[in-house]
Amino acid sequence: MKEKILEHLKKGHEYISGDEIASRLGISRQGLWKHIQELKDSGYDIVAVPHLGYRLESSPDRLSGMEVSHGLNTKFIARKIHYFDYLSSTMDFAMQLGMDSAPCGTVVIAESQTKGRGRLGRSWFSPKYKGIYFSLILRPEIAPSASPILTLLNAVSICESVKNICGLDARIKWPNDVFVNGRKIAGILTEINAEMDKINFVVIGIGLNVNNDKRSLVAQATSLKEQLGHSLSRVALFQELLRRIEDNYILMGKEGSGPIIEKWRNFNLTLGGRIKVHFQDRYIEGQAIGIDSDGSLLIRKDAGLVQKIFSGDILHLR
Ligand code: BTN
Repeated sequence: MKEKILEHLKKGHEYISGDEIASRLGISRQGLWKHIQELKDSGYDIVAVPHLGYRLESSPDRLSGMEVSHGLNTKFIARKIHYFDYLSSTMDFAMQLGMDSAPCGTVVIAESQTKGRGRLGRSWFSPKYKGIYFSLILRPEIAPSASPILTLLNAVSICESVKNICGLDARIKWPNDVFVNGRKIAGILTEINAEMDKINFVVIGIGLNVNNDKRSLVAQATSLKEQLGHSLSRVALFQELLRRIEDNYILMGKEGSGPIIEKWRNFNLTLGGRIKVHFQDRYIEGQAIGIDSDGSLLIRKDAGLVQKIFSGDILHLR
């Protein structure tokens, strides 16, 4: 009901009478008043003037379904949003939803995470209302071995949305780290549920530092607030990111991985450089010479042999 009330309040900037809202929604004026109080308690600035009605002055920067869906206009991404004040990790919740047949495009978002996780057993610091922490369920019709392309697609979408909303140049360190001015701003974790030759679903987890204060970040990390010198609307950035992901996903469906890899190249920090790749018990060194159509990285080792890397922790040497 609160979502419906907000829809009415967001329609125009004028006052709307309580009688009108109540009769359109089939509730009593008393019921409406109760919902309005609850909206105010969750941060909506709603003024009430006798004989004029209610007017929405401002909305809180919350990533709730109500806020994110308003004006989003996507076809399938985030048509279903699961929103939490906190979760241990959005990944676990989304993996469970994936197994329970949640549709492609379902989003799980938390305002904070108590056990946010990154790649290779690392944790992801997720302070409340500061960043964007979400997991997205996708059901792509590609081979399991081609799944790294989805990480690249999401990294490209992050760079595009950061550019469009903040005007900042974001760059990608293969495969999943997004940097602004040499410091990490976002990370992507891709988890997959598949059979031998068929992906059942993929969960893409994205953590993006938005309004984090400089002092709460480790030295190698930054936030958009730090880079811009002011806070910004997480809702606007999140909506743009969801639109970019949808556009790129549709593009990949129509034209394959080629255009995504082309875009990725323009944002990349890794190709052409000398890198070291750490695996569990060994490492290799060489020149990063290309990206294959499945999103894997091609490295020319010093002996001249080219090796394909699907995942790993890379270090840029120079
Ligand atoms: C990395 O850089 O290692 C990947 C970080 C991914 C963090 C996000 S935050 C939302 C989602 N839930 C998690 O627990 N992790 C991902």
